Amino acid sequence: MSTSDRRHNPGVGREVTIGVVGATGAVGPVTLELLRERGYQNLRAFASARSAGKQLDGLIVEEATPEVLSAGDLDLCLFSVGTAASRELVPHAVRGGAVAIDKSSAYRLQDGIPLVVPEVNGARALEHDGIVANPNCASIPLTCVLKPLHDAVGVARVRLATYQAASGAGTERMERLRAQDPAEGDLEMDWEFDGEEFDEEAKLRAETRKILELPELPVSATCVRVPVMVGHAESVWIETEEPLSPDRARRLLAAAPSVRVEDIPSARGAAGEDEVLVGRIRPDRAAEGNGIALFLACDNLRKGAALNAIQIAELLLARRPVAV
Ligand SMILES: NC(=O)c1ccc[n+]([C@@H]2O[C@H](COP(=O)([O-])OP(=O)(O)OC[C@H]3O[C@@H](n4cnc5c(N)ncnc54)[C@H](OP(=O)(O)O)[C@@H]3O)[C@@H](O)[C@H]2O)c1
Repeated sequence: MSTSDRRHNPGVGREVTIGVVGATGAVGPVTLELLRERGYQNLRAFASARSAGKQLDGLIVEEATPEVLSAGDLDLCLFSVGTAASRELVPHAVRGGAVAIDKSSAYRLQDGIPLVVPEVNGARALEHDGIVANPNCASIPLTCVLKPLHDAVGVARVRLATYQAASGAGTERMERLRAQDPAEGDLEMDWEFDGEEFDEEAKLRAETRKILELPELPVSATCVRVPVMVGHAESVWIETEEPLSPDRARRLLAAAPSVRVEDIPSARGAAGEDEVLVGRIRPDRAAEGNGIALFLACDNLRKGAALNAIQIAELLLARRPVAV
């Protein structure tokens, strides 16, 4: 297939050539591992000049230069390089004819660029013009849980508190946690602060609204980084349009794709799992109208990042939305 035939249409099956850009970070190696497990063989690993030439999972890491990314021999590029590097590099991969699935916040809220959680709004992925954005690792599990409840009874308001793992901030932060004396572990709020909210909290609101296509949905979040290596957890208080008993919520969530109901989910329990764990489903005793409270946990490197992006890729390869 020539570059022009292939332009932004990555073909079908597992013959495609996939570039993993940011292969040496926290998300990149998980992406490579999951791609291999799923039978993809034509993989290339890219990172910065710092890592070029390193061996990784049987691949030699290449420097992700504009020339290499735009050469026209990549069908799909899964980017996990950070916002500034994505802004710089993604357009080159797209120019070369690849579809870019970008995990940074560079394109998530840009009009015309789909922001996709396959189980929630998978059909939107097919509307791309070269770029599909992968949401934040806290927005993905939240929307997986809100969507089935919204479809059944209408979600009217969401309040949440997050407990986010060190790996959500990348390999450097993981190294810092490994080296840290456990007695010195603390809660942190290490995002950009605008005087009122951290950008992570604003992102959660804006991304949840875009993914669920509820542009006015009231969402209020407090985001906290905890001394846990892998696995983000969230306490969520949900007000609904119509009454929703905890039993019905449990049944709806048990039937939802990529969600597993457990009595007491934990970050540790979610690590290494593909599903979003949800539990502690109970009435919200402080709600003025209809309200339930619940607790969720999710592997931020898998469903929160690598796996969600691969599921988006598979939607594009199959050219059809997943059943939801
Ligand atoms: N960690 C998560 O749970 C998570 C979840 C969802 C989304 N994300 C997003 O995914 C992205 C990466 O996250 P991460 O946690 O994997 O970060 P990370 O551990 O810091 O890794 C960053 C990766 O990007 C590469 N890189 C940095 N600058 C580059 C450049 N100019 N050109 C080419 N490669 C470059 C690094 O290569 P070198 O090794 O050569 O420096 C490394 O492979 C971020 O945008 C993050 O917001 C992360």
